[in-house]
Amino acid sequence: MEKTKVNYEKMYYGFPVILISFYDRNGVPHVTTISSSYTLKNMVVLGFNTKGFAVNEIKHVKDFVINIPDRSLVQEIDFCGSKSGYECSKFEGVKLTPVKSLLVNAPVIQECPITIECTLTDVIERDLYQGITNVLAAVQGRYVANEYLDQEGRLQPSMLNNILYIGDGVKRGYRYMEEC
Ligand SMILES: Cc1cc2nc3c(=O)[nH]c(=O)nc-3n(C[C@H](O)[C@H](O)[C@H](O)COP(=O)(O)O)c2cc1C
Repeated sequence: MEKTKVNYEKMYYGFPVILISFYDRNGVPHVTTISSSYTLKNMVVLGFNTKGFAVNEIKHVKDFVINIPDRSLVQEIDFCGSKSGYECSKFEGVKLTPVKSLLVNAPVIQECPITIECTLTDVIERDLYQGITNVLAAVQGRYVANEYLDQEGRLQPSMLNNILYIGDGVKRGYRYMEEC
């Protein structure tokens, strides 16, 4: 395969879009869009812009929920990814419903089929990576919409309708999962 060397500032090669929900220090529910995440066993890592409202509140309150939206929520994803919690509680501007979660002090988003309750354990900021804050968190609970489960209660991959975020620093777009 012949390749061209590119000088992109970024290379986001397809990361699932997720919505992070939490209560701020005054107990107000908030939500923001991110795509920088991975999980291994009982740990998750999220990548934030250091100046964002969400990460600066989560540093204090510790608890948050990862909500996996599907294709029907693209407008909400764009709204929550363009406005800041410094301006308003984004829950007031979108059709997303925050509901108190069971195990952590954070709201789950009712409209999202998969939700993961988390508690922050580590914050990583390095001079080498100015402007980036990585958050490590412990998974406290996982929830899946009943229709996504098979008869043994296992996750059915074919039911997921995640949105992948792709970008090169200038051009950005989404890709959707196909039926298989
Ligand atoms: C599809 C998508 C993916 C995004 N991924 C991230 C991300 O991984 N990390 C991040 O800090 N911001 C990400 N953003 C940008 C934030 O959502 C945006 O800066 C938002 O206004 C921050 O809100 P806050 O100040 O309430 O935290 C993404 C936005 C979109 C639309």
